[in-house]
Amino acid sequence: MKIGLLGHGVVGSGVTAITDSCARKKVRRLEVTRILVKDESELTDPRCTLNVEEILQDPEIELVAECMGGLEPAHTMVSRALEAGKHVVTSNKKMFANYCEELFGLAQENGVTIRYEASVGGGIPWMSNLTRIKRLESVLSFRGILNGTTNYILTRMEETGRDFEECLAEAQKLGYAEKNPTDDIEGYDVMYKAAITAMKAFNATPALDAIPMYGIANVSSVDLAWAAEKNCSLKLLACGSDDGKSISLWVMPVFLKKEDILANVSGNFNAIECNSETLGKASFIGQGAGSLPTAHAVVQDMLDVYVGQDTALGEMESRTICNDNIHAQFYIRTENREFFRPVTREVLLSGAIITEVMPLSEIDRMIKESEDAALFAAMVYAE
Ligand code: HSE
Repeated sequence: MKIGLLGHGVVGSGVTAITDSCARKKVRRLEVTRILVKDESELTDPRCTLNVEEILQDPEIELVAECMGGLEPAHTMVSRALEAGKHVVTSNKKMFANYCEELFGLAQENGVTIRYEASVGGGIPWMSNLTRIKRLESVLSFRGILNGTTNYILTRMEETGRDFEECLAEAQKLGYAEKNPTDDIEGYDVMYKAAITAMKAFNATPALDAIPMYGIANVSSVDLAWAAEKNCSLKLLACGSDDGKSISLWVMPVFLKKEDILANVSGNFNAIECNSETLGKASFIGQGAGSLPTAHAVVQDMLDVYVGQDTALGEMESRTICNDNIHAQFYIRTENREFFRPVTREVLLSGAIITEVMPLSEIDRMIKESEDAALFAAMVYAE
């Protein structure tokens, strides 16, 4: 099967490293014949081109793999590939979370498939395992660490006592971070992955701006010191559940007891747990970022297209997110402590507060009203 690759950065170059070695071994019939790159400095391979039409208008190319990242031009190119009757594999969570309904429609109209394993959990076969679970039963809930960059930063801060900026620079150097690290550290990257997971797990298409989203951009060593004092690790989690009526879905740092399996997932690793009726709890752990692990997921998707693996999703519903039933205590570090006095149970020596047990939807509303851009919020001991 001839493949056109869009993008030859961290993920795209991992894809050619894998497919080229497979071709040499003649193990698989995947052949990347054209690679779209963004400027002349990237014309390092005879297959490289600066002209996307050489891919979109090549009748021999049956599959387009998009590893560019960002909304545009990725969205337009992927739409055009589907309209041209080419299968699509994408690793781009931002683009896919924003346009999945439209892209599924285009794929269906044109009798092709779009696959997105690499968009969530890097190399972990998370989407394909959700597909398997759903052949038998509904997924009831999931919770997980879905961002390698922030997990790397939090792990390094915990291990070394170094500050946030230094650990972020290390993660960038290792090729884990997005081009713009804001997406990682403010929680957008996890929010896109949570939305894609909810789509797959619950057949829901949640409005992205309705997902409560808190990142680690304002985390400081005092927060990690409190975690150590309480025998906890701080992890950025995405969680969702479906009770058949409404779904809950949120993204927030959580202080987890050390005995929690997720508290022990370190470095760029991601880990996701899901729960369903007969399987019960199942956990998936692996490298959530980086060139070859993510490229592995892209190539697995290509192989699934090649062998005609079915990826039908069933009917999608537009479901409302309701986080009223998520009750917990929250850790808030803010200059505006007075605003939170009505819900404060304890003031720590560092000045951070611990709230009473309260709904996530309520603390989310209060944090937004308090308007402190430097505030750091986390959930305490979520299950
Ligand atoms: N920036 C992302 C992460 C890359 O760190 O997890 C993989 O999606």
